[in-house]
Amino acid sequence: MRPKDLLAILALLAPALLVSAIHAQSPAIIAVDAAHPGSPIAPTMFGIFFEDINFGADGGLYPELIKNRSFEFDEPLTGWKVILPYDATSGIGLSPGELNIRTDAPLNANNPHYLHVNALAPGYGFYNSGFRGIGVEQGAEYRFSAYVRTTGPKAIRATITDAAGHEIGSGQLSGFDGTWKRYETIIRASATATHAQFNIFLDEKGSVDLDVVSLYPTDTWNHRPNGLRKDLVQLLADMHPGFIRFPGGCIVEGRLLANRYRWKTTVGDITERKTIINRWNDEFDHRPTPDYFQSFGLGFYEYFQLAEDIGAAPLPILNCGMACQFNSSETAKLEEIHEYIQDALDLIEFANGPADTPWGKIRAQMGHPAPFNLKMIGVGNEQWGPRYIDRYKLFNEALKASHPEIKLVVAAGPSPSGAQFDEMWAYWRQSHPDIVDEHYYMSPDWFLQNSNRYDNYDRSGPKIFAGEYAAQSTGAPVSPKNRNNWQTALSEAAFMTGLERNADVVQMASYAPLLAHIDAWQWTPDAIWFDNLRSYGTTDYYVQKIFANNVGTRIVPSTPHAEAGLYTVASIDDRTHELIITAVNASNAARATELHLAGVTPSGSAKVTTLGTNDLAAENSFDHPTNVAPESSTLSVTSSTIPVMLSPNSVTVFRIPMK
Ligand code: AHR
Repeated sequence: MRPKDLLAILALLAPALLVSAIHAQSPAIIAVDAAHPGSPIAPTMFGIFFEDINFGADGGLYPELIKNRSFEFDEPLTGWKVILPYDATSGIGLSPGELNIRTDAPLNANNPHYLHVNALAPGYGFYNSGFRGIGVEQGAEYRFSAYVRTTGPKAIRATITDAAGHEIGSGQLSGFDGTWKRYETIIRASATATHAQFNIFLDEKGSVDLDVVSLYPTDTWNHRPNGLRKDLVQLLADMHPGFIRFPGGCIVEGRLLANRYRWKTTVGDITERKTIINRWNDEFDHRPTPDYFQSFGLGFYEYFQLAEDIGAAPLPILNCGMACQFNSSETAKLEEIHEYIQDALDLIEFANGPADTPWGKIRAQMGHPAPFNLKMIGVGNEQWGPRYIDRYKLFNEALKASHPEIKLVVAAGPSPSGAQFDEMWAYWRQSHPDIVDEHYYMSPDWFLQNSNRYDNYDRSGPKIFAGEYAAQSTGAPVSPKNRNNWQTALSEAAFMTGLERNADVVQMASYAPLLAHIDAWQWTPDAIWFDNLRSYGTTDYYVQKIFANNVGTRIVPSTPHAEAGLYTVASIDDRTHELIITAVNASNAARATELHLAGVTPSGSAKVTTLGTNDLAAENSFDHPTNVAPESSTLSVTSSTIPVMLSPNSVTVFRIPMK
């Protein structure tokens, strides 16, 4: 190389060499002032948003394996089919018969349709294909149950067959007495299958009425008969969420008021819960889901129970008399709002009332005489505009008069800024509700640039609930091309340092949506993906988890907030006597850093949790569920200056024991 060329190259490299020399010489400083702790951090700080979208409830968290078990879908035979072929000439195969939907003398008025099966010869069979297949595991037990009415055939035989048609389990119901009664038996699967089908046969000629046909795993969360899917609840429990918001989301609103979420139809005996269409059924042309309905097997009792199980405060969101403003925007007249308000009042009684009150009694009869300790309710989901304000006023007046102890969560529209947002805030600033719910489905860049969003919010204004957020990898919300990757997750982590640092204003935050079935989703990105048997937390899930697992009880001042890709937050955990420092290095260079601690003399071994990869496109998957997941190590700390190295594109949490 000619010396002239070498000089030219050196000239080009000079700025980079200078920067690395500076980095080598001067580490980044994270300064933490533990001598001046600030505001308490609400125990609700990081929680969960649950909505029945993407088969999140039926087909997901609610592990019923039979789709349309009560024949109440708009097309009442959805999910059910006659077993073919029937070969009349050879007599090989299955016998002829008829499946009819009937409504005379039904099981109950909320469940008006049932299946009338007429076997014209022995061996007539039909099957249910489940929620995009039925997942069963070798050795696991499944409770096959059904309401049966017949004076004909003595038995109903059922089999589970795998995708190749091999039988991998069977059972039989019998002992019928001619009236509607529930019968059950246990079927043990002899093999694992993700796309099995459930077959029912009549081995005698004759007819049978069937309703609420169920195949339900016995191994549910806490082994409850109507319990939830274990692996999914485990992922939620592992987060140690501060709260759980349910049942949504737009599902609260419905596309029309007629299919809004009504909590009262979701409690009590499961046969009495009225199935309705799921609003995500036909929402998106890009992901039509015509077989998406709500059985409400997972209803408000189960949501409260789930909240209790995982130590999360329950946050039910109620319809305020408005259907989704992205759809019909149908609005109940002000004179009709008392019905919606009564639902809210009755919900408080259902959750907290003594067991001798009408709604408290229903809770007690369902198995929970003790109250559920409800402290907050959302009035409407993602509403905006004057019609919302008018309806909120009536809710507020009535609820505060009889239940001042219940905090009300109100909406600020669908976006983090803009006319609807400003209009709502203009009203919230003067009316001062308890908690305002803000939503942001924005680009990763937006999240990186908005970690200081709450630094200047009015400290005497309403508290904030960052109720729905997720970085959209394409930048466009609702794009089916959005991915859950490390870039989205890292940007959310940077943003979340700002949420926690402003814990005096921000009291709750949740990523959305939570769950998605790989074969039946409508919306991406989502925190957790699952199929019929497996599940995994995305990169974004692990960011939620690392923050929720490492939030202290009081904020302490720390710097920098957002400087050259470095974002920090610190807190004290009074329960464990630790100083917790979270550092997000959103740059692709490793950062030599010093933690400078004031007001605390650390000694001993700090716990360090690191999450990240230099590959921003990295994703988790069914085959590599922990490709990007937290890793633990320890660090000996002997002085108030602690040298550390922050990996490129990483989140690192230090839990430092305090004397
Ligand atoms: O999280 C998906 C949807 O996004 C929610 O249902 C709604 O509240 C928001 O628009």
